Amino acid sequence: DEMTPEERAFQDRIDRGDKIEPKDWMPEGYRQTLIRQIGQHAHSEIVGQLPEGNWITRAPTLERKAILLAKVQDEAGHGLYLYCAAETLGVSRDELTEMLLDGRMKYSSIFNYPTLNWADIGAVGWLVDGAAIMNQVPLQRTSYGPYARAMVRICKEESFHQRQGYDAIRKMAEGTPEQRRMAQDALNRFWYPSLMMFGPSDKESIHSAQSMAWKIKINTNDELRQKFVDQTVPQAEYLGLTVPDPDLKWNEDRGQFDFSEPDWSEFFEVIKGNGPCNTDRMAARNKAWDDGKWVREGLLAHGEKKRTRAKA
Ligand code: 3HC
Repeated sequence: DEMTPEERAFQDRIDRGDKIEPKDWMPEGYRQTLIRQIGQHAHSEIVGQLPEGNWITRAPTLERKAILLAKVQDEAGHGLYLYCAAETLGVSRDELTEMLLDGRMKYSSIFNYPTLNWADIGAVGWLVDGAAIMNQVPLQRTSYGPYARAMVRICKEESFHQRQGYDAIRKMAEGTPEQRRMAQDALNRFWYPSLMMFGPSDKESIHSAQSMAWKIKINTNDELRQKFVDQTVPQAEYLGLTVPDPDLKWNEDRGQFDFSEPDWSEFFEVIKGNGPCNTDRMAARNKAWDDGKWVREGLLAHGEKKRTRAKA
């Protein structure tokens, strides 16, 4: 359908590489797409603290505990930056939180898989934050100013997240036979769910075409997934670990790895709410919201008192 003159002028700005700022005119679809993507990105950061938070009190050394604590705190900050970016689009953090808690909004599928032991914490940093970096680096160039700027800050911290995870799993891959077995088992369980993080294949992706036209999405899902595989396989080889994909092989002509796609029926089940941990994660977030009610009410009452006192 034909663009209106305003939509045409907006698309010209996008094609020119302009940054769109909160007070600029934008098509309603652009606004809604950003609220959906930034809001779900923020939810991913907040829910993403749960799998790792579970291991802060169980870390093998004080140093590992301090590193994991710092990382989980960073994720909370990433959530705040992203909720603030979403608020510039006219939606409140409370509304976004409500839509997470009642299931109307999503968070990244990966966090619906359990972290069963310490090797998983290494695999999460290595693979999950590795995939997140792959996806977030291009987003520093996304057309919406507040989102692009939030990404710059987040990407700086993500590289530490990935390095510490890789270092933790390297220690086990170079450790006792039992530790090596645990590192291999963690790779076996997190490999395909990490590939799913990039979203459905391009032919299945309902939003990609429009998001690419608006430069909300800079690369397609499959492009980033391929980049992740090409970068991660050598890292697994360096550790002496085997990627759980019998059809993985280097394709000289393409200069890339050929690899097996994840089980997309599993992916769609997980994002429908039927993954291994969806119920736990949603219960934990709902409990946190309910438990924090008295704090929010106290702060609001205090703020109200200060306002009325100031007026008196
Ligand atoms: N988990 C959950 N839902 C997913 C998903 C995933 N891994 N991949 C796709 N989906 C959903 C989409 O949200 C969409 O559903 P919706 O219409 O209800 O939102 C549907 O599946 C179709 O997928 P599309 O590819 O058409 O959707 P998008 O164009 O939005 O692409 C995306 C999906 C690539 C995840 C994109 O939204 C994106 O780049 N988001 C920003 C990055 C992000 O959210 N990363 C989370 C990673 S975890 C993290 O950052 C924490 C880190 O610190 C560890």
